[in-house]
Amino acid sequence: MSTNPDHLYPVFDRMLPRSAKEELLGQSGAVIWMYGLSGSGKSTLANLLERRLHEQGRLVKVLDGDNIRTGLNRNLGFSDEDRLENIRRVAEVAKLFADCGIIAITSFITPRNDLRRLAREVIGDRDLLEVYVKASFETCAARDPKGLYAKAAAGEVKQFTGKDSAFEEPESPDLILDTETESEAECLEGLLAAALEKTKIEYRAAL
Ligand code: ADX
Repeated sequence: MSTNPDHLYPVFDRMLPRSAKEELLGQSGAVIWMYGLSGSGKSTLANLLERRLHEQGRLVKVLDGDNIRTGLNRNLGFSDEDRLENIRRVAEVAKLFADCGIIAITSFITPRNDLRRLAREVIGDRDLLEVYVKASFETCAARDPKGLYAKAAAGEVKQFTGKDSAFEEPESPDLILDTETESEAECLEGLLAAALEKTKIEYRAAL
């Protein structure tokens, strides 16, 4: 059962402002929300981006579906309801990082537009860079880096995204990385440029 909000007293006015932390770090906090089918290349690109940003002196944290689901979200499965709760918690955690001036890169399938909207509502337009890592079900199934597509085809994985659980084409991503037609290096260059722009300290000051 949820707590009655009338009995909660969140404090914001005595907190050190976010801008003080961003000045300390020399960067603007942001959330780079990467989504797409399992095997589309999200995690690979998220980890490469983290390294490239780190080399440029940026402080970054990657939040990845497979990792978060073994810890914070280990009580959640793959029903529509659980995926929503998964995304809600991750968006809240990513927002905490951004509020600390840190760049959070999230790597979650985020299969539906209502989930993408929820993440945007929690994080806010100003802090969010929404990146669709695009590859078809057939391509991801052929890559099958974790062997999950084969297991799903054999009926061993239920509610599998793109098979028995829907994956909707996105409505309004800020950036599309097509990993079928573009090389890893090309995808990374586009992503890095957008991420550097979104997280430079002058960006926030200019808003
Ligand atoms: S999401 O739909 O709620 O955003 P999330 O990104 O956290 O999904 O988790 C997806 C990862 O869980 C996949 O990369 C895969 O390794 C694993 N997985 C296990 N079962 C499933 C399933 N039924 N559908 C999709 N991914 C699954």
